[in-house]
Amino acid sequence: MRVTNVLLLATTASAISFPDVSSITSLFARKNGGDGGNKQCPAVWSSVSTTLTAKFLENGQCNKFARAAIRAVFHDCGAWKTTLGATAGCDGSLVFETGRDENNGLQEIVGYLQGLASQFQVSVADMIVFAGNHAIVTCPGGSRVKTWIGRTPATAAGPGGLLPPVTDSAANLSALFIAKGFDDRELAALLGAHTTSTQDFVDPAKAGQAQDSTPGIWDVKYYAQTLNPPQGVFVFPSDTKLANYGNVGKEFKGFVDNQGKWSGKFADAMGKMTLFGSAGTSNMADCTDSLPKSTNIKREMKALPMFAPRN
Ligand code: HEM
Ligand SMILES: *[C@@H]1O[C@H](CO)[C@@H](O)[C@H](O)[C@H]1NC(C)=O
Repeated sequence: MRVTNVLLLATTASAISFPDVSSITSLFARKNGGDGGNKQCPAVWSSVSTTLTAKFLENGQCNKFARAAIRAVFHDCGAWKTTLGATAGCDGSLVFETGRDENNGLQEIVGYLQGLASQFQVSVADMIVFAGNHAIVTCPGGSRVKTWIGRTPATAAGPGGLLPPVTDSAANLSALFIAKGFDDRELAALLGAHTTSTQDFVDPAKAGQAQDSTPGIWDVKYYAQTLNPPQGVFVFPSDTKLANYGNVGKEFKGFVDNQGKWSGKFADAMGKMTLFGSAGTSNMADCTDSLPKSTNIKREMKALPMFAPRN
């Protein structure tokens, strides 16, 4: 009797074709980015977190300030390439760079985060990273990115020409990310941040249009809708080109309808980017536990193919 039950269970499990277990564990694990770190997270970050939740969460979704904060991390940390080593990157130099065209739309959030850093007496370089990672997890379904604290802020603008022009070719864009140490899958995963983005400056006549139909939710609709946009979704030319570019395109398509896989890969790549310019984590503190808990774990579970309603 007992044996029969076990067999039955085993048969049932394979019949509903359980997905690769790694996609589930990656959703919950925080293995992304860095290790070591022998410092305690300063208590102030819990207070910062309370303040940021009030700023970023609106009607159960992440709002325009959250979106801008996520983009701000990319424009501070991502202005880096491997040859810069432990310089530039996540150094808060963005506060000196808001006059650059590529940073249009970021002025308000950068001013806000700068004010918050001085209010709580923390480094603005850390504040930008913490706020961006906080914003991500504020969105329902948001990835939990490993979040290190302990950066020395820059005192002047950093090097330019390191951020991607939206009109550039796929080959140029790919080369730009390779120079930052990202592979094709990491690039495809990072682009998924456009699940929460809106545009004002690519086509000002369509200001406010989003890059998927649910900009307040951290889901994988962006991937399917970039390839096949519904009415009202604004697709960046760079995203279309990369979504159809060789192996980057293959990785991009691999995230379509695959929240579990994407969430983990995004967290890993974002964890890596938020250490650009840092000389390792041994003198940093892991403040991941000061981020809010994932906003809606049930929604994340429902997004996994094995829990999706069948018909
Ligand atoms: C090929 C790479 C990329 C290009 C060409 C690109 C380009 C753009 C452009 C043109 C906008 C709209 C700006 C505006 O008109 O208001 C935008 C928005 C945004 N991007 Fe990207 N991006 C890239 C990669 C990334 C990455 C790696 C991230 C983060 C990990 C990111 C996060 C965002 C976010 C969150 C917004 C929304 C900002 C808002 O709504 O306020 N992007 N991006
Ligand atoms: C690609 O990069 C090259 C070298 O910087 C540049 O001359 C060219 O205009 C870029 N392509 C596009 C489409 O912008």
